[in-house]
Amino acid sequence: MTTDERGTCPGLTDFDPLSRRFLADPFSVFHSLPSDLPVFYAPSIDYYVVTRYADIEAVFLDPDTYSAAVTQLPLLPLVPEAAQILFGVGFKAQPSMVSLDPPAHTRLRGPTARAFTPRRVAQMEPTIRRTANQLLDAVDPVAPFDLVSTLTFPLPATIIFSFVGVPERDWSQLKEWCGHRASLGFGRPTPEEQVHHAENMAAYRSYLRELVATKAKTRQDDFASDLLAIHDEDPGALTHEEIGSVLYSLTFAGHETTNALIGNVVRRLLEDPARWDSVVADPTLIPAAVLETLRYDPSVTVWRRLTKKAVTLGGVHVPAGAKLFLWLAASGRDAAVFPEPEVFDLQRTNAAKTLAFGKGIHYCLGAALGKLEASIALETLTDRFPDLRLIEGQDLSFHPNISFRGPQALWVQGGGSRSLGGSSSDERDR
Ligand code: HEM
Repeated sequence: MTTDERGTCPGLTDFDPLSRRFLADPFSVFHSLPSDLPVFYAPSIDYYVVTRYADIEAVFLDPDTYSAAVTQLPLLPLVPEAAQILFGVGFKAQPSMVSLDPPAHTRLRGPTARAFTPRRVAQMEPTIRRTANQLLDAVDPVAPFDLVSTLTFPLPATIIFSFVGVPERDWSQLKEWCGHRASLGFGRPTPEEQVHHAENMAAYRSYLRELVATKAKTRQDDFASDLLAIHDEDPGALTHEEIGSVLYSLTFAGHETTNALIGNVVRRLLEDPARWDSVVADPTLIPAAVLETLRYDPSVTVWRRLTKKAVTLGGVHVPAGAKLFLWLAASGRDAAVFPEPEVFDLQRTNAAKTLAFGKGIHYCLGAALGKLEASIALETLTDRFPDLRLIEGQDLSFHPNISFRGPQALWVQGGGSRSLGGSSSDERDR
């Protein structure tokens, strides 16, 4: 795209979603923007930023005009050495379904949705509950503890890795690889860091390829084996390589997103203790707390698209081949959809309209699982730590990337656990 083509779109030269100010508080940046500029060009990232709910929704619902191809593209062009490492192991620029357009997308989404059924998700509930309790059993109930390392990070990782069929001995390695993936795809690493991340992502992809080969010989009761059963029915419809790609989707999408969601819910409830107390007093408010957090402070803050042709979006001319930064977090603060959007309101009636899970053909496959995990985490916490409070004076930090946002640590104190010295985790499950 030439500078001339961009000339018709208003630009905001100092908008930088990886700046220190933005990472600390993106909402203050949002509020400082001119309200009559719903779409603008940001030279710092070479993306058009889209802020309004209606425009983002329209983009999601029109895959003929807006391609998903840039969804996982490294934000910065890769240095040749990093590119060589990645593509040398057969990596693709659109490595999994979330960045594919139809018909390639349909080919992967169909069998994945077939194996990832609501029944499978519902069956996970006792395991999620047991795991949350086991993780909290390790907490000293009267000492401050970091909720992220204790619960919000390990819970979804344990659930998704065991669901997929990754052996437990490899979980910590997989978590580390996913961190490299977030940094390379969604951050702004130096050339040296790019090479390091690329090496790790190549190892991650090769690992999944081997996992599929191993499972093909020894089937187990897990999602990878379910996909292999679909392959057996019609090997051309879903190849082993494609199964590796689906596992590449789920092992990443299934934990960072949910880790951050649980951290954000607990943070937003505890930052006004009356909110926390109302949920403790009435746990039926928990699903509303999760939805309102997805609107007010979503864990996936930005998603991306590419224009296939020139369009007018939000009244602004955008050329063909332009990259779009769909600011999901801003869409949740759109007063045209959510009255008094700055108020965190557990009684809000339309929080479910949030675009936090996307919309249309790529709508998040794990939305039900993510909400279930967050709800169970909150049920378990409010039950065991009704007097939970934030440790005052802590500075929250956030991973430097454009899309995944939740506190990297959240220090809390319980004031004594209700369940201590009582039942075991298993007993509590009944
Ligand atoms: C709980 C927090 C989560 C949030 C906020 C979230 C958000 C999103 C978003 C924004 C998209 C892109 C939608 C679009 O392009 O229209 C997406 C896609 C996807 N998500 Fe999630 N997600 C979450 C949890 C999960 C979990 C737990 C899983 C896996 C079990 C998962 C698996 C996927 C997959 C496979 C896709 C790609 C679907 C497709 O391309 O057809 N997500 N998610």
